[in-house]
Amino acid sequence: MNTIRLGDIAPNFTAWSTQGGFDFHEWLGTDWGMLVSHPADFTPVCTTELGTMANYSKEFEARNVKVAAISVDPLDSHFEWIKDIEETQNAMVRFPLIADHDREVSELYGMIHPNDDATMTVRSVFIIAPDKRVKLILTYPASTGRNFDELLRVIDSLQLTQYEALATPANWKNGEDCVILPSVSNEEAEERFPKGFETVKPYLRLTPQPN
Ligand code: BEZ
Repeated sequence: MNTIRLGDIAPNFTAWSTQGGFDFHEWLGTDWGMLVSHPADFTPVCTTELGTMANYSKEFEARNVKVAAISVDPLDSHFEWIKDIEETQNAMVRFPLIADHDREVSELYGMIHPNDDATMTVRSVFIIAPDKRVKLILTYPASTGRNFDELLRVIDSLQLTQYEALATPANWKNGEDCVILPSVSNEEAEERFPKGFETVKPYLRLTPQPN
């Protein structure tokens, strides 16, 4: 199994998807990306997840995040299943559903955990920055559907770090105070954060969310 760690360049791959031939890096372009694996087509939790992902498409677009899903099912199965997702979840699936029947991509990304289940992918999430570096990795079991509000929350946090030199505290929600990165000096913080900041401890400085 390949081990991908935070900070690595997300491995490139080519595959077939419901949106046609797919070169991962080319498709990402200069946007952020989110690649999620689902265990299998025509399964209940996956059906709700991919419907939710489709219904959140405007939220992902607003954050310049391209989303794609993958499983080891073949393309004809994906196309049939999308009809069910759209029917039952009141959703339009416009993102690519990658067909990885030969498991090449699933193995490349370590999405099959054989001691859990050798035949299906687990629920992996990879969030990738515009420089193609992996910024977040999550793994959920097949029986637990992911929380897409949490995925938006972490994207907001990652983008605050990338663009504003801010971190986010425990249970942070969009709009709440952020933490100034330790690498930012007080002098720099004064310039960067015109709304000001509170020094709770020299290492814990809070500032209103700038955006
Ligand atoms: C599901 O998507 O519902 C599911 C898939 C595999 C195992 C358990 C649940």
